[in-house]
Amino acid sequence: MKVRILRKQSPTAEPYWQEFLYEKKDNRTVAGMLDELNYKDNLKDINGNPAPGIQWECSCLQGMCGGCAMVINGKPALACETFLRDLKGDTVTIEPLKKFFTVADLVVDRSVISENLKKVNACIEEYKLSDKADHEQMYSAAKCLKCGLCLEVCPNYKDGRNFFGALFANDCYLIASRSGTQKEEIMESYDSHFAKGCSKSLSCEDVCPMKIPTLASIARMNRRKL
Ligand code: FES
Repeated sequence: MKVRILRKQSPTAEPYWQEFLYEKKDNRTVAGMLDELNYKDNLKDINGNPAPGIQWECSCLQGMCGGCAMVINGKPALACETFLRDLKGDTVTIEPLKKFFTVADLVVDRSVISENLKKVNACIEEYKLSDKADHEQMYSAAKCLKCGLCLEVCPNYKDGRNFFGALFANDCYLIASRSGTQKEEIMESYDSHFAKGCSKSLSCEDVCPMKIPTLASIARMNRRKL
């Protein structure tokens, strides 16, 4: 099969496409394929020219850390969870997430996610649950990997704007479900950094690797049902 990768050698370099040949193995994931290409003694492109190793990120390799989020055949996905057998055609196209700055090849800078959360103090300080807490929904919301796939597909999210996206809405729900002083503050942040900007396309739910029912978090927040 043919593997097309959008390359970029350094933060300031110009991106370019490079193609590789790869003997397709159905039980390989995209992450496994990238590893295999990188472990070749002399990586060569499809024309036989020497190619630099492919830069990408991973940690858990089991869909738990979000590190390997990228765009595969036009769809945001986790490379370690995407099997070659599930991809159509003989060519796989791989690009970095587009809503974040590309540091090199498939490595992007997602620090804006934590910066946004820090900006509005969206972290849990109190552990006492409110009487009405919905434990099942809280458990789901807490599974967020902060991988950024929901931001990649969101029609409303753009770095630098006031709208922080689905991962923020889920964090707000988690924090607001606890009683205490943070509740009021996080409600205000939710209204200004999420509720006013969300157009409910819900593409975030479709792409979430942890299948978090974000709509349920949003509904509870909007109705103040916490
Ligand atoms: S490497 Fe952790 S989610 Fe893919």
